[in-house]
Amino acid sequence: MGNDTLKFIQYLFKYLKLFYKPFVLGVIFSLLSSFLTGLGTWSIKPIFNYVFVEKHYEFFKYVPLYLVIIFSLNGFFSLLQAYYMKSLSTGIINQIRLELFKKCLSLPYARLVRERSGQTISRVINDTSQIEPVLGESFQIFFKEALTVLVLLSVAFYQRWDLTLLALVTLPAIIYGTKYLGMKTRRTRRLTQASTGELTHRMGEILQGIKEIKISASKEIMLKFFARELERFYRLNLKVTKYREASKSLVDLMTGIGGALIIGYGGTLVIRGSLTPGAFLSILTAILLIFNPIRKLSRAYTGLKEAQGAWSRIEEVFYLEEEKGGTLKAMPPERGFEFKGVSFCYDKGLPYALKDVNLFLPAKKMIALVGPSGAGKSTLISLLPRFYDPTEGSILLDGIELKDFELGSLRNLFGLVWQEPFLFNLSVLDNLILVKPEATFEEVKEACKLAQALEFIESLPKGFETVLGEEGLSLSGGQKQRLALARVFLKKPPVIILDEATSQLDTLTEKAIESALHELKGQHTLIVIAHRLSTVTKADLIVVLDKGRIVSLGTHEELIVKSPLYKDLYQTFVR
Ligand SMILES: Nc1ncnc2c1ncn2[C@@H]1O[C@H](COP(=O)(O)OP(=O)(O)OP(=O)(O)O)[C@@H](O)[C@H]1O
Ligand SMILES: [Mg+2]
Repeated sequence: MGNDTLKFIQYLFKYLKLFYKPFVLGVIFSLLSSFLTGLGTWSIKPIFNYVFVEKHYEFFKYVPLYLVIIFSLNGFFSLLQAYYMKSLSTGIINQIRLELFKKCLSLPYARLVRERSGQTISRVINDTSQIEPVLGESFQIFFKEALTVLVLLSVAFYQRWDLTLLALVTLPAIIYGTKYLGMKTRRTRRLTQASTGELTHRMGEILQGIKEIKISASKEIMLKFFARELERFYRLNLKVTKYREASKSLVDLMTGIGGALIIGYGGTLVIRGSLTPGAFLSILTAILLIFNPIRKLSRAYTGLKEAQGAWSRIEEVFYLEEEKGGTLKAMPPERGFEFKGVSFCYDKGLPYALKDVNLFLPAKKMIALVGPSGAGKSTLISLLPRFYDPTEGSILLDGIELKDFELGSLRNLFGLVWQEPFLFNLSVLDNLILVKPEATFEEVKEACKLAQALEFIESLPKGFETVLGEEGLSLSGGQKQRLALARVFLKKPPVIILDEATSQLDTLTEKAIESALHELKGQHTLIVIAHRLSTVTKADLIVVLDKGRIVSLGTHEELIVKSPLYKDLYQTFVR
């Protein structure tokens, strides 16, 4: 057994502590069931010899009854052991899933959104569903069948060791053959899985990009890609079947050879009179009964190996570093945020998205960030709730470094609205009170009124109880933005960040929301990113960014005079 497999089993045993009750019961019923199998085969000898050889035919009528009792008890115990072992494996898998989910929630944002790792993490969550049946089966099989093999072997050896040994000479061939074929199966199956993943991915991509496909008449090309992948999947799948069936045939063949050997040698012994017919029959039964559990055991071993592969990927996720905060409780800003020599780069090898930013964002004022697309505006604000940390330099809140604050309390200071806000597949009301579970319905309504959202919410089929994304209901971009803004008005966080949050609204609605936001100024810090510069002219401070650097700072009146870039942007957008 490989070292990794042992480690994996060791790991599983750690979880056994959590589920010791089904485990203990499962083992007890496995023991009982194996014991009965052993008893059944062992008793063939005395029964056969006594009733048939010694001709005590009057006892014959008890034989069927005895068999029925043994078999039904065995079946009953088998059922119980399967039930408890399943409860054990499902329990373990759910525990692993829970821990995995929790882990994912506390991974750094950057880690989760990085294209490749994001995919890996979601694949890992799928991996758990692959482990579950395998693990369930393995647990059942290992305890029950291994015990059965032991019991049957003892029965056979005890009666005639040389005959038993002879019957087992084919065993190594079975073990090595199935192991080899199992490895082949596994390898091919892994490719099949990757291929399935590719298919799902393509399918999703095609559906997402369906408009592009339709408009560009690229149906044929897409079909060709898809057909190619299907062909690959087809071939791999057949290969898996080939290896698996070969493994079964091997076992059948070896069982046949084993059977022939034992009948040949055993029969000779009986004819010579050195073995009673009852003992012979009993050994024969025991040996024949052994092969099936052995086959199951080898399958369980293969399954365990597979589960271990999935496990090692899961384990990697567990080892990923979680995001870490400090111990200080963050309080609403009194003075403001200070960027000290901040540079930021999304990943090694990529150009800097922010470079040498020295900036003071005063508290309780309205601050606007402007600049051409790709200037680094969204990047800059993502650093405040620590979605990312600066690559160089530091950011301070009222003189204290952001990383010294406890993460939850720091993030709780913020309310954020993005250009494409995310709404959960929940009711409108649930989506809103996510940010303030204790809010009263009146408060929610008031917030919606301020966000200019009340009217359209009330016209939805079930008003606030309408579940988003169901029954074909989808909101327009502007409606989503207003719901996201309503969240901000509901929570009224000390720091409000709007990144193109009103970009999809008509001018009248936008103005109404702006004036509601202006009411908050004075107690709340407002950071606004907007392309439509007419919306930011009233800001107390406007920061002009270009190519990751701050190029100018000031009020609208000042910047119109001193910043050519600002003047340009303003004139283009105001028209
Ligand atoms: N997740 C990311 N991974 C890698 N690079 C990124 C990522 N997000 C943004 N960038 C890069 O960082 C730079 C700044 O992007 P940012 O989104 O901050 O610009 P922006 O000023 O908000 O632009 P826009 O007005 O178009 O929203 C760009 O060059 C962009 O390509
Ligand atoms: Mg942006």
